[in-house]
Amino acid sequence: MENIKQEILDHTLIITINREKQLNALNSATILELSTALDEAANNAEVKSIILIGAGEKAFVAGADIKEFAHFSAAEGAELSAKGHELLFNKVENMNKPVIAAVRGYALGGGLELAMSAHVRVASDDAKLGLPEVGLGVIPGYGGTQRLAQLVGKGKAMEMIITADMIDAKDAHQWGLVNHVVEPEKLLEKALSIAKRTQRNSPVAINAAMKSVLANYEDGVNGMQEEIKAFGRCFGTEDFKEGTQAFMEKRKPQFPGK
Ligand code: CAA
Repeated sequence: MENIKQEILDHTLIITINREKQLNALNSATILELSTALDEAANNAEVKSIILIGAGEKAFVAGADIKEFAHFSAAEGAELSAKGHELLFNKVENMNKPVIAAVRGYALGGGLELAMSAHVRVASDDAKLGLPEVGLGVIPGYGGTQRLAQLVGKGKAMEMIITADMIDAKDAHQWGLVNHVVEPEKLLEKALSIAKRTQRNSPVAINAAMKSVLANYEDGVNGMQEEIKAFGRCFGTEDFKEGTQAFMEKRKPQFPGK
């Protein structure tokens, strides 16, 4: 992989987007590499959670690679967006294990869209977040118009998108766009601690819970009904037997993840 680095630390896969000179902008090769890494991670039992982070101090990701799509036709633009959704952004959101975005510096356009696809966002206090696409004559195309409104509400999403303004970490935190703000030196540590915290719980239940939360945002899907079905399925799992047994025996559970 040329554009990303991967390291497993304490069952957490840290994926670093590694195009520092281009502020980690997402070109098609990087999207493909991230997509492959996620597919592998989904099936790797050693990996229990995933952190996405950008190389260097300046940016998480400064957006989709503008130089790559500047000459695209309308049809190519539509394909770029559709492929991005399928290969990366929906894949992150629908991962079977928690994905945490660790945001330092710029998270713009596709960069903020990538962070918004993750299940949890931690930002450093020097982070700058925004969807500047309309300033380029285009709109957010990797889920930004939908996920930003889901996270911060329609009013604030509209303002951010039509002004193309960046917001700082403090506002992002206040608006619910990021879960935590820490000093830059503590960014990875904080993301790892959240990852570690999830690892005490049943991976099967975590996956089912994440899918149930997300069901609310799927067209034509009834989130409550999905929750009821997923809740029932949990009763047939080994994790459920272990979790409830451990409670009754007053010990910590050892979830088999099945
Ligand atoms: N695409 C391609 N290259 C990018 C990039 C991007 N999104 N963002 C930064 N770069 C490159 C710059 O071109 C520059 O490369 P060169 O040295 O080869 O010229 C390098 O990264 C460093 O960037 P700057 O010199 O611009 O750094 P700066 O500190 O002066 O400015 C910045 C930083 C404000 C983030 C500025 O780089 C910027 O505005 N970047 C673009 C942000 C943006 O518009 N993102 C949205 C992209 S569109 C999108 O994401 C569409 C979608 O939803 C699918």
